[in-house]
Amino acid sequence: MKILNYGSLNIDYTYKVPSIVKPGETIHADALAKHPGGKGLNQSIALARAGASALHAGKIGADGQFLKDLLKENHIGTDFVLLDTMPSGQAIIQVDPDGQNCIIVYGGANMQITKDDIDTYLQALSPGDLALCQNETSHVDYFIQQCHEKSIKVAFNPSPITASLLSGFPINCVNYLFINEIEGSLLTKKNEPEEIISALLEKYPEMQIILTLGDKGAYYADRHQCVFYPAFTVKAVDTTAAGDTFTGYFLKCMTEGLSYAECLKYASAASSIAVGRAGASSSIPYWDEVIEKCN
Ligand code: RIB
Repeated sequence: MKILNYGSLNIDYTYKVPSIVKPGETIHADALAKHPGGKGLNQSIALARAGASALHAGKIGADGQFLKDLLKENHIGTDFVLLDTMPSGQAIIQVDPDGQNCIIVYGGANMQITKDDIDTYLQALSPGDLALCQNETSHVDYFIQQCHEKSIKVAFNPSPITASLLSGFPINCVNYLFINEIEGSLLTKKNEPEEIISALLEKYPEMQIILTLGDKGAYYADRHQCVFYPAFTVKAVDTTAAGDTFTGYFLKCMTEGLSYAECLKYASAASSIAVGRAGASSSIPYWDEVIEKCN
């Protein structure tokens, strides 16, 4: 089974701040670091470090060659990483002393991807293959619909949630939905994890849902079963890319045929390691480290 990730490639500017800035406030940052990031790039790297063979599809500007190089260094196929005249996507990330973050994303080249580009990417896949996407690139709705029509399974991480995602978006064509509590609440108007899962399954009975709850753990649910796995205890340094790490690891374990409890265990272990390190893609562990954490 081939795995293609249609996803963002961002240059992350991470500011270490004493507290997340409030409206009208100006604060000093204690440190600034530039990291390779983007939910797309992070999830491709998580897939690869978990041992999957993956292709990445997306767009960078002339300033983003190092993002493509990093994918290549991680043995990810980059034939579908195209060059645009716009600068690469960017993220401004604040990280506070508890490791919590808040992120502003500027789409740049990620938002210049056309439907024709998507048609080209999808030529690489056949029925039964797996496509992954997030919501930081253009025409994600078209990508999902095309995959569905071609019987390609779709894993979707609807982050960030946008207005267009809440109305008329083809969520019904998604096979595996990766959400956190905030995304789940926005999609269902419910607050409790069990309520979020029930509301989604009522609307989309065939969907497989992976709901992450940060330091409270994570759920896998479909209409036949609901599995919970508690989070590993960790001192948070930077939570950036924790969810991306979880997604990549969960998918890799799932495609290997592991039980959903095992998928949750390895994905949780991987994301707890990422949370204990600074940066986005640079914090994503390799499979050996995850196994060691689980032993
Ligand atoms: O999920 C973390 C990522 O979100 C960052 O790397 C940033 O680029 C934004 O896309």
